[in-house]
Amino acid sequence: MQRKRQPAEPYRIKAVEAIKLQSRHEREELIAKGNYNVFKIDAEDIYIDLLTDSGTAAMSNRQWAALMLGDESYAGARSFRKFEKTIKGIFGKKFVIPCHQGRVAENLVFSNALKPGQYVPNNTHFDTTRGNCLHKGGIPIDMPCEESKSDEPLPFKGNMDTVRLESFIKDKGPEQIAMVIMTVTNNSAGGQPVSMANIREVSEICHRHGLLFYFDCARFAENSYFIKRDEAGYAGKSIAEIAQEMFSMCDGAMMSAKKDGLANMGGFITLDDEKLYEKLTQHLILIEGFPTYGGLAGRDLEVLSVGLREVLDFDYLDFRIEQVEYFGEKIKAAGMPIIEPTGGHAVFVDAGQLLPHISPGQFPGHALAVEFYVEGGVRAVEIGSLMFGGTDPDTGKEFFAPRELVRMCLPRRVYTNSHIDYIAEVAEKIVTRKESIRGYEILKQTKFLRHFTCDLAVCKSEGVKA
Ligand code: F0G
Repeated sequence: MQRKRQPAEPYRIKAVEAIKLQSRHEREELIAKGNYNVFKIDAEDIYIDLLTDSGTAAMSNRQWAALMLGDESYAGARSFRKFEKTIKGIFGKKFVIPCHQGRVAENLVFSNALKPGQYVPNNTHFDTTRGNCLHKGGIPIDMPCEESKSDEPLPFKGNMDTVRLESFIKDKGPEQIAMVIMTVTNNSAGGQPVSMANIREVSEICHRHGLLFYFDCARFAENSYFIKRDEAGYAGKSIAEIAQEMFSMCDGAMMSAKKDGLANMGGFITLDDEKLYEKLTQHLILIEGFPTYGGLAGRDLEVLSVGLREVLDFDYLDFRIEQVEYFGEKIKAAGMPIIEPTGGHAVFVDAGQLLPHISPGQFPGHALAVEFYVEGGVRAVEIGSLMFGGTDPDTGKEFFAPRELVRMCLPRRVYTNSHIDYIAEVAEKIVTRKESIRGYEILKQTKFLRHFTCDLAVCKSEGVKA
């Protein structure tokens, strides 16, 4: 089927930031100097940076203007009142707690609403959510739906497996479960959306068993767009109405506003439960700041109030999601297998399939990410065995990620389709010489989150598939 033409940007450009493509020789030297770790390359030496869509959005003229309106009062700032009103308008909860980014919201919630030993089911935990849950003695459980494992381009592959959730609650007993979380869109599962029907079902299950139901909603507007586009009965509703319906079914939400807040920094918790609100704000004062700024400047709160309204604009979202889809089609046409359909914020390339001669223990996703930099100055991140693999401390055996992927995130309102066409040309060049790409070995690594800081070297011998 011929897809509809990708809409043109629903904005024009008012300020630009120069980017520079270093020579191939310089790129080869820079990656070698960084011990083949893309996190160790300075951003100045990157031409197109697809490492994350978090905190990397371009702000609008309205947001830049709002900066000057920031009320930097310690207590009761006008900027907080605006922020609070905006969030209440979308999420419909009684209380709003600002914090400086999403992982602080997670830390606060798990510190105050979880007892050690309790389970936390999620469609799929994002790394920091999982990390914070474990850190507070909780047991994070991922319950992605069966369709998420399929190669078919099905809608709503981000859903939670409700049959499994129900039997898990019956098996463990509700008192063993701190809360159930729904991540929208499901970042760790390819940025796939969750349907309203699935949200409704999970909410109904939770409330029937007296369980708290929370959202991790960094990309809630993108999720709402998918519901409008692909779920029966929602085509005539506005993005704001869909978001309001989603959040009417939960007890609270945590948000990293660095994504759909269209801002460079920010986060919040919103909820109805007054007792929990009191506990959270007491804790907030200790670690972030007074409840009317929570680690943010007044000007950040202003920028977020504008961003959270702008992100609900249909034309913006239509361009955004279609651009990601356009990017996916281009990468696929270049000969790289991708996860389909494309999700809300990134294209995930299946490096394991592209480079079958490199074993998971020699990190095909990492090898591909290095090639993107060397070939074209493009930075992407491995989401595979370098990130999620390791050595079992009890058995000493190596374990690997289920898939060897490379995530290519599109920052919001930053790159044009010419940039995407350029990246596709880089991909095509890599594909023509894919058999010659070698795997990597780790020279030095840390115990936790090794991919950020490890040193690597090109393997001398070819690996055997594990
Ligand atoms: N939840 C989700 C679903 C996320 O994607 C992230 C961050 C967080 C929570 C944590 O928020 O960074 O503001 O503390 N994701 C970024 C990414 C880092 O690149 O996907 P944070």
